[in-house]
Amino acid sequence: MKILLGVGGGIAAYKAAELARLLMQREDRVRVVMTRAAEKFVQPLTFAALTGHKVLTDLFAIEDAIEHIAVAQENEVLVVAPATADLLAKFAHGLADDFLSTLYLAFTGPVVIAPAMNVNMWRHPATQANLAVLRARGQTIVEPESGYLACGMTGPGRLAEPETIARAVAEQGRLKQDLEGETVLITAGPTQEPLDPVRYISNRSSGKMGYALAEAAAARGARVVLVSGPVHLAPPRGVEVAWVRTAVEMREKVMEHLPAASIVIKAAAVADFHLSKVPPQKVKKTAARVSLELDPTPDILAELGRRKGDYLLIGFAAETENVQQEARRKLETKNCDMVVGNYVGGSETGFESDLNEVVLVLSTGETIPLERATKREIAGRIFDEALLLRLKLHAAHGR
Ligand code: CTP
Repeated sequence: MKILLGVGGGIAAYKAAELARLLMQREDRVRVVMTRAAEKFVQPLTFAALTGHKVLTDLFAIEDAIEHIAVAQENEVLVVAPATADLLAKFAHGLADDFLSTLYLAFTGPVVIAPAMNVNMWRHPATQANLAVLRARGQTIVEPESGYLACGMTGPGRLAEPETIARAVAEQGRLKQDLEGETVLITAGPTQEPLDPVRYISNRSSGKMGYALAEAAAARGARVVLVSGPVHLAPPRGVEVAWVRTAVEMREKVMEHLPAASIVIKAAAVADFHLSKVPPQKVKKTAARVSLELDPTPDILAELGRRKGDYLLIGFAAETENVQQEARRKLETKNCDMVVGNYVGGSETGFESDLNEVVLVLSTGETIPLERATKREIAGRIFDEALLLRLKLHAAHGR
């Protein structure tokens, strides 16, 4: 792949040299674009020597006035590392006053952004708002790591490891258009089961894992239908979203889209019980004690397992103990091809976190533990394993 590496002006610019070296080993070609501020930290000569190409810096110091357009067209992935707070703001708002920001606007391919900055600058609502805009645009943010920062403070802000960034770049690549022509149906988030017009029962699911799966499937060329419960997330670019509230509504939408689907992933945390007759008016505090009699909701995954057509069926098991055994039990009772066992008892992984640590339990009898990683990375691994599993199942059934 032909990669453009944009280097921003931060102390972490030196790490971009290591990233350039890694990318050179794995990708077809790397061209580096530096901001003026980046040049204060690292000499362009370093990158020129590493990549074998002239480094692009000043928009006006080049022979061809439209070089940024040509450069944008002939490259496949733009990765920006380190992305300073200033660059994030420029990208989010479409400012174009130097080579890198102009190139960003002219570039139509996938963009990977690895921010690095002081912890307070990272946490500032302005920076977070800019990041939200970039994420909603479908761009990949390689989150900074937590640790001791050059400014003397501790917290998130340190540029992710070059290896992590190089992997995120590879993921955007040509290898991964392996879901082209397929429809992937994904459910995500919690459901809300009303108790009266103003109250409901729900759970802590944030929807992040399901949304990461939707983003990963879309990036790999699939048509994605995301049946989403109420969450506070922006839908990934290019994904069709069907909003639902209750388990019953979720079932309806899933069944509606099922005929087109070749892969179905039930990442939603569906409420197991609901009030089948919801009072039409708000319940008043008249009694000293109330008890609720709840009925089971439709088990959507079990129904999909029973009617099992040509689709690959993947369920989730969110557990606080015996993750692997519970995942295997659900795989068997709900007739799935894969169940993603998910530990949700801790604070670092699980529901609201951006990280996850899961174990994949397959109908072939295999068990594949995946190391702790971002939900986006885990999503990619789930598709890698799902496609491999489908090949195995087809081979076993002589198809
Ligand atoms: N699921 C579903 N419909 C439901 C309940 C669960 O489709 N009414 C799906 C979830 O989307 C998930 C899987 O079933 O993919 C497992 O959900 P979970 O709540 O962990 O399992 P349960 O069968 O409810 O088992 P338990 O509550 O006993 O752990």
